[in-house]
Amino acid sequence: MLTSRVISRSSKLAAATTLRLISPMLTKQIYSIRPITCSTKLYKEDKRQPNFASRALEQTEDDHEGAFGRTDNTIRIEHPDEEEHPPSKPIQGRGGLHFKRTLASFTLENRSVVVTGGARGLGLVMSQACVISGADVAIVDLNKDEGQRQADELMRHFSEENPGAENIPKVTAHYCDVSDNESVKSTVAEIVKDHGKVDHLVTSAGFTENFDAIAYPPDRLRKLWGVNVDGTYFFACEVARHLLERKAKGSMVMIGSMSGAVVNVPQPQAPYNAAKAAVRHLASSFAVEWAHAGIRVNCISPGYMLTALTEKIMVENPDLHKQWTSLIPTGKMGQPEDLMGAVTYLLSDASGYVTGADLRVDGGYTIT
Ligand SMILES: NC(=O)c1ccc[n+]([C@@H]2O[C@H](COP(=O)([O-])OP(=O)(O)OC[C@H]3O[C@@H](n4cnc5c(N)ncnc54)[C@H](O)[C@@H]3O)[C@@H](O)[C@H]2O)c1
Repeated sequence: MLTSRVISRSSKLAAATTLRLISPMLTKQIYSIRPITCSTKLYKEDKRQPNFASRALEQTEDDHEGAFGRTDNTIRIEHPDEEEHPPSKPIQGRGGLHFKRTLASFTLENRSVVVTGGARGLGLVMSQACVISGADVAIVDLNKDEGQRQADELMRHFSEENPGAENIPKVTAHYCDVSDNESVKSTVAEIVKDHGKVDHLVTSAGFTENFDAIAYPPDRLRKLWGVNVDGTYFFACEVARHLLERKAKGSMVMIGSMSGAVVNVPQPQAPYNAAKAAVRHLASSFAVEWAHAGIRVNCISPGYMLTALTEKIMVENPDLHKQWTSLIPTGKMGQPEDLMGAVTYLLSDASGYVTGADLRVDGGYTIT
């Protein structure tokens, strides 16, 4: 299994390298050194070259093709302070009434959805998907002011795109530090007071940072796990407690990452990868624990998505974009909008028999 994974990775990299990273003059050479389909055969049959398997250790990182499948410990990207965060814009022109036939089971009308990390990025776009689908939404974020501004924007957009609509979804904003259980409890109580109930949860509050494993500052590691893992855990449990008390069905979507299933390169990010694997497994574990009560829990694992923040990172590190897209079969990063259908499907009755699943929205990154 291990061998085939390595081979598949190197064939992908050979192709990517050939097409994008290496000059055309080298193209032929690369294929003749290591044909894509026969790495295993070569290794087994070439008895005259006993050192073949250990070549990677002898060569420098730069001149061995395996180098493209490794992390680069010189890359460090710290999560920016709040004031450096670029704000996100709501998606334009998708939310009006339309006359294309679709399944009624996709609607979120009369539902109340909580979205953590909803003031920005993917959380904001998924909040908008819920509003467009008819739900009331509570945006939960550390940045209450930005959450409030976006809540007002979402309602304004809805009114503009649905002139004369009788029911404008109610969108509210709430301060919460999801890594603090007391903060989570009081926020859920506040939302229940404002909206009367909660039916659904999307946990999008989270962040990533890049340090090599040994240099990772322990306080930042705890913070990262606190927001990504504890935050997901606390919020899911508090919403589940509310649903169980109401004896109501519900569904939750946890935002993991493809990093929960693979090790991204070249940026080192071991704690984030482990955190997202934990999120994915929390979704499955909760799905089993709460299935008796009709509470479904699923995970969405996005690939590289083009948010305002990732755009900023790529402007500052232009090589990353090249390397990332060279590893994505569809050849491009995802748009936040690509999560709108996925989250609506998993929250709504359209996915009534789906629980504990992990839906990868990654342009095929993790299948190669
Ligand atoms: N952008 C990507 O390419 C990508 C890919 C895979 C997974 N993800 C995951 O998607 C989620 C959203 O990422 P994003 O790119 O939209 O990030 P983002 O930084 O744009 O948005 C995250 C939001 O979470 C909020 N937040 C952070 N810590 C919080 C806390 N302790 N309590 C409450 N709110 C908090 C932030 O204020 C921000 O509004 C994250 O979990 C991230 O790991 C993102």
